[in-house]
Amino acid sequence: MKKILFILSVTLLCGPLYSLAQASEDEAYVAKADINLENKDSLRRGARLFVNYCLSCHSAAYLRYKRVADDLDIDEKLAAEKLIFVADFSKMDESEAKRQGEPKKIGALMTVAMRAADSKRWFGTAVPDLSVIARSRGADWLYTYLTTFYVDDTRPMGVNNLAFHNVGMPHVLWELDGLKKPIYETVKNKQSGTETETQVFTGKFDYLTEGKLSPVKYKEAVNDLVNFLVYMGEPGRLERQRIGIIVVLFLGLLLLFAYLMKREFWKDVH
Ligand code: HEC
Repeated sequence: MKKILFILSVTLLCGPLYSLAQASEDEAYVAKADINLENKDSLRRGARLFVNYCLSCHSAAYLRYKRVADDLDIDEKLAAEKLIFVADFSKMDESEAKRQGEPKKIGALMTVAMRAADSKRWFGTAVPDLSVIARSRGADWLYTYLTTFYVDDTRPMGVNNLAFHNVGMPHVLWELDGLKKPIYETVKNKQSGTETETQVFTGKFDYLTEGKLSPVKYKEAVNDLVNFLVYMGEPGRLERQRIGIIVVLFLGLLLLFAYLMKREFWKDVH
């Protein structure tokens, strides 16, 4: 028993210590996303950005358009028009059309037409599915990733990223964001007598070209998009929380009645 307790406490202790050590090891820049799944307007704006700018390469193959329309209170007809971009089947040979499935219906999964092999050829890597990306990367990472694309002429796509070094993805939101370069400052560290200089990102950018949105508006738009990605990672969350509250209220009520009944039963025993 003691052994088990010892092992348990060591594992419980080591987890936080390990993450603390990691956090201090790379003090990478992380911006904070403001996630609010109750804000359906934000989720709808995020959904629109997602289908317009991401769904051409990334799939969200665990989700159906209909589910999104239902959860975000989008009229199904409107959703079919605005969310689903039907591929041009007339230009495809038969096997390709079959692979993609007939023109997308509202009940279809959010898949993409791109083949993994083509993606490897074009981007050097298979484009990952984004259904559960918010659960593996976290909202803050996604927000940082989408707001820190910067111009880097040494990269094939002409851009690099502060959160994902040497990323293979082009800056697809550049029209909204503009093209920018991070501003660094030199920080001197004194460690055991030797002085080293490191370049630290100031959190600010130099804009080479302005985007359609101001930097503040761009961040708001990305926040909407990340909000939608978080929703996508667990579409049942909204409903789960709602049901959870009802269940707790019900249990509270049950407790009251159970207590009253217990009092009634034990009244004569005492
Ligand atoms: C032109 C195709 C293309 C488009 C459009 C695109 N991406 Fe990507 N994306 C890629 C590729 C390729 C990678 C893989 C990069 C790598 O591994 O170097 C990637 C990687 C990512 C990753 C990192 C995944 C990981 O490995 O953790 C995220 C997050 C992401 N994309 C989000 C988005 C979002 C959000 C949009 C819409 C605003 C978008 N992408 C639009 C091609 C694209």
